Amino acid sequence: MKTFTIAVLPGDGIGPEVIAQAVRVLEAVSERFEIRFCFETWPVGAAGVAVANDPLPTVTRDAVIQSDAVLLGAVGDPAFDNAPPALRPEAGLLALRKLLGVFANLRPVAVHPALVNSSPLKGDRLHGVDLLVVRELTGGLYYGEPRSRKATRAVNTLVYTAPEIERVAHVAFEAARHRRGLVTSVDKANVLEVSQLWRDVVTRVAGEYPDVRLEHCYVDTAAMRLVSEPASLDVVLTENMFGDILSDEAAVLAGSLGMLPSASLGPGPGVFEPVHGSAPALAGRDVANPIGAIATAALLLRQGLQLPEAAGAVDEAIAAALDAGARTQDLARPGEPSIGTAEMGTRIVGLVLAEALEGLS
Ligand code: IPM
Ligand code: MN
Repeated sequence: MKTFTIAVLPGDGIGPEVIAQAVRVLEAVSERFEIRFCFETWPVGAAGVAVANDPLPTVTRDAVIQSDAVLLGAVGDPAFDNAPPALRPEAGLLALRKLLGVFANLRPVAVHPALVNSSPLKGDRLHGVDLLVVRELTGGLYYGEPRSRKATRAVNTLVYTAPEIERVAHVAFEAARHRRGLVTSVDKANVLEVSQLWRDVVTRVAGEYPDVRLEHCYVDTAAMRLVSEPASLDVVLTENMFGDILSDEAAVLAGSLGMLPSASLGPGPGVFEPVHGSAPALAGRDVANPIGAIATAALLLRQGLQLPEAAGAVDEAIAAALDAGARTQDLARPGEPSIGTAEMGTRIVGLVLAEALEGLS
């Protein structure tokens, strides 16, 4: 039996609580499918600064490079709002993405039928929503040089090269090929030179995928389409900053930001993290929604370890828990009872194991 080494980086705020539930679910998967995991926990973000004065300590760097996949909670702590840039928790996450070269961030968004009424949008808009944001993750404004901050002037740089655009475009077209065959490339080509290059390169890559339809969409229009006609989107391909913004917007469709998983892929181990942040106001209160983290564990199994059957079992257990009425506070409608973080984990673990019993009977 192969043992997979998972580097677990719980991080800050609600990160440790939701990741604990994701790990419990992976342990249940291990019991059911005879897969062995070795979980090793390492600090990142404010937790890294606390132990090593570094948001991505050397021990963590060494461990992630050696791992089969990285499971990350969230980083961010308001105590560091005025810290020097290199000591901000977020710097640890950006350094991790760069270290592993995870240039393609996949953020699937689907609406579970039982949660149609948890979204503030009208139910008829949500019918048939099933989209995938492919966000470029290691370039753009987040990493561009020069960058500086002075008292009355600050600089960030938006730069992309053709190869950077090309490789993430291939990920989007490959994904579309196995979905509904549409790529919507999002840019601001009416204003930005970088977006003009983006458009040209994506159009060229599209030539290699005659079975996939490509459309271009300005980011402002895309923001509107995401809430006005979200079911018209399949794969949304975009650069780092636009993808960050649009994926939070897309979370409204799923009922809560706490629902969404993500996979960040590159040449080596992938980084798997829920889309939500550290939510300091919720931390330590057993109220955070662990489904985003648990669905992230499913993505880790599918995209990181090529274990589609195990991944499917986790997704089915999540759906079954929701069907049975399990709701954390963020999903519960007024007057509806809710359960805590750990209890939601317990229900999903129970369902992963129950599916196994069903399989035997
Ligand atoms: C995300 C987060 C990060 C990002 C932050 C924490 C740096 O918002 O993963 O979406 O902007 O990429
Ligand atoms: Mn974000």
